[in-house]
Amino acid sequence: MKGNTAHENPLYRECTIEAVIFDLDGVITDTAEYHYIAWKQLGQELGIPFDKEFNEQLKGISRMQSLERILQLGGQDQSYSQAEKADFARRKNEHYVSLLDSLTPEHTYPGIRELLLELRSAGIPAVIASASKNAPQILRALGLESLFQYVVHPDSVAHGKPAPDLFLRGAVEVGAEASRCIGIEDAQAGIQAIKAAGMIAIGIGEENVLKPAGADVVMKDTGGVNLSFLEETLQAFGC
Ligand code: BG6
Ligand code: MG
Repeated sequence: MKGNTAHENPLYRECTIEAVIFDLDGVITDTAEYHYIAWKQLGQELGIPFDKEFNEQLKGISRMQSLERILQLGGQDQSYSQAEKADFARRKNEHYVSLLDSLTPEHTYPGIRELLLELRSAGIPAVIASASKNAPQILRALGLESLFQYVVHPDSVAHGKPAPDLFLRGAVEVGAEASRCIGIEDAQAGIQAIKAAGMIAIGIGEENVLKPAGADVVMKDTGGVNLSFLEETLQAFGC
């Protein structure tokens, strides 16, 4: 008999991982903390103090959106011209980039390099879908550039996280079907983006922060995230 089983159907795609799409800051390395330090400093200068709980809202979104949220927190969003706001964002970025100077391959989070090598051996594309314009510089400093097949530029999509655009673009660029992709994120907005893209979402961080955003699984850190864990996760939550 021909054409009766799923495998003989040309539209059938096996339930295997077709791409792993990584956020960068807070997933590949600790730069989420550097963003926090730099925004906190600017907030202090503007008389808008904030803590780590508020900072969760800044993760995953763009530089200018982060600034707007901080100004709103301080009731100052109407207080400055666009040029002044652009100058605040520039100052924050200068501070942030100066913190990146100390970044070396040793700052890569546990298990990440090993996972990327496993993916390469298995022929599974690894992609970066970060809101950061500093992503290429960070990947260079960590010596990870050659292990990613594609880095989505945040300006190349219409909407940032929590919209799915960055993740969907990553999947399209490597020819992967969204439902066979795993997204890895530390931000609530990022988890929402992965789920909106129809992918499996692995959260890195606190369960009480990332589960409500829709994470399928939450890991405290990247140490246990290897290829067999990703395969089990796809089987459990995906196809
Ligand atoms: C995201 C971070 O990855 O990139 C945000 O989670 C940050 O905190 C955003 O604001 C934009 O980054 P950058 O480097 O372009 O200012
Ligand atoms: Mg992040």
